[in-house]
Amino acid sequence: MKENNLLTEGDVNFSDARKSWYQIMDFDTMKLLDEDANLFLHQALSTPCLDVIESCEGIYITDIRGKKYMDFHGNSVHQVGYRNPYVLEKVKQQMDLLPFSPRRFTNKITIEFASKLISLFPSHLNRVLFAPGGTSAVGMALKLARVVTGKHQVVSLNDSFHGASLDAIAVGGEEQFKKYMGNAITEEANNISQPSTYRNHFKDGLDLHYADELEKVLEQNPQVGAFIAETIRNTDVQIPSKAYWKKIRQICDQYQVLLILDEIPIAFGRTGKMFAFEHYEIEPDIVCLGKGLGAGIIPIAAIVTRDKYNVASDISIGHYTHEKSPLGCSAGLAMIEYLEQNEILSKVQNDEIYFREKMLELQKQFPIIGDVRGIGMLWGIELVKDRTTKEKAISEAEQIMYQCLENGLSFKVSQGNVLQFCPPLIITRIELDAALTILTNALEKISFNNN
Ligand SMILES: Cc1ncc(COP(=O)(O)O)c(C=O)c1O
Repeated sequence: MKENNLLTEGDVNFSDARKSWYQIMDFDTMKLLDEDANLFLHQALSTPCLDVIESCEGIYITDIRGKKYMDFHGNSVHQVGYRNPYVLEKVKQQMDLLPFSPRRFTNKITIEFASKLISLFPSHLNRVLFAPGGTSAVGMALKLARVVTGKHQVVSLNDSFHGASLDAIAVGGEEQFKKYMGNAITEEANNISQPSTYRNHFKDGLDLHYADELEKVLEQNPQVGAFIAETIRNTDVQIPSKAYWKKIRQICDQYQVLLILDEIPIAFGRTGKMFAFEHYEIEPDIVCLGKGLGAGIIPIAAIVTRDKYNVASDISIGHYTHEKSPLGCSAGLAMIEYLEQNEILSKVQNDEIYFREKMLELQKQFPIIGDVRGIGMLWGIELVKDRTTKEKAISEAEQIMYQCLENGLSFKVSQGNVLQFCPPLIITRIELDAALTILTNALEKISFNNN
């Protein structure tokens, strides 16, 4: 497989740029990186690692040399910032009282959290099930959809990611995760096109037409029981129109197909609303949550669904050891309380206006920027060699990423050429400006070198 085919979910760790990056590391760091690489199974997006971190606080992670990175990546767990003091205190209190709850028992904090979480949803979405990670939440959603509909096939989007396990990659589309895996363990899933605005092939440029593909697949496959997609695609930041989602909802209803929205990386304020589907005036059947749900402190994930789908009491949909995790639930509850008490959603809406202005200025200044897309504090800059051909500027994107890392700004590159920015939502304007300066300098350097 060519390296460029692997540049989908993030930057790979075996490129020449990565080799050069190691040149600037000190002896102690390289020693630990080598030890790590000798201990862990190697994977294209993690081991061997980039650097060794020691601590984190707010928007920063700090490595063992004392170098600080503004973390605009954070694997999407850090909506309320690292080591958020409010959340940390609540988790510490819970740790002293009840850190674990065996499965046949429930506990107060879990009930309190479930009730708070459900209160944030439209009234039809009022049943919850917790799991220790996002992939498991996706697995639970797929299982529930089979029980509810009696149909075992799934439609998802090309090049999508819903977790790395065999059931999740069966519905995901990313080659990175499917290589060597043979046939999907589930009945074959059908992938349809991502709704794209920048690389849209329709004459009128509307993304609404992508929904027709779903209808075609459903017409031909009566065994499809669910459609799963990210409401807004996190990796290369694809933001569908309201018309697209309304049409998808209507098609799902027409064919009695459950609509599963994967909001694992984008819920809890990332888009300026608590949940991304609120932008679209639609109600999903199942929502998958994770990542920031545990505030970057405790792993926890969930599905939220409708009371009428509470129909599988004779089997186990989840059954995870840490299902009613008091620590996870205390982190989740405190994270939501923090968002509410500090009016983070309206802060994000204001930051979006500011960031959009800055992004559009950069696009005017640098021809390498083909497109900027964003909502709330989720932004993508798509780099192209030529604005007419839209040829992806892949090595340029990688160079910019390493340049920014060197200067203290961490973010990921998606699809090989999209710089993706996902800062903690608590970021200040001063910090935002500092990050923009690092990015501008890197864009200047690459534009200058290429001329
Ligand atoms: C859209 C999406 N779904 C599911 C997952 C899987 O979550 P986890 O890694 O917590 O299992 C991810 C993780 O990156 C994701 O981005």
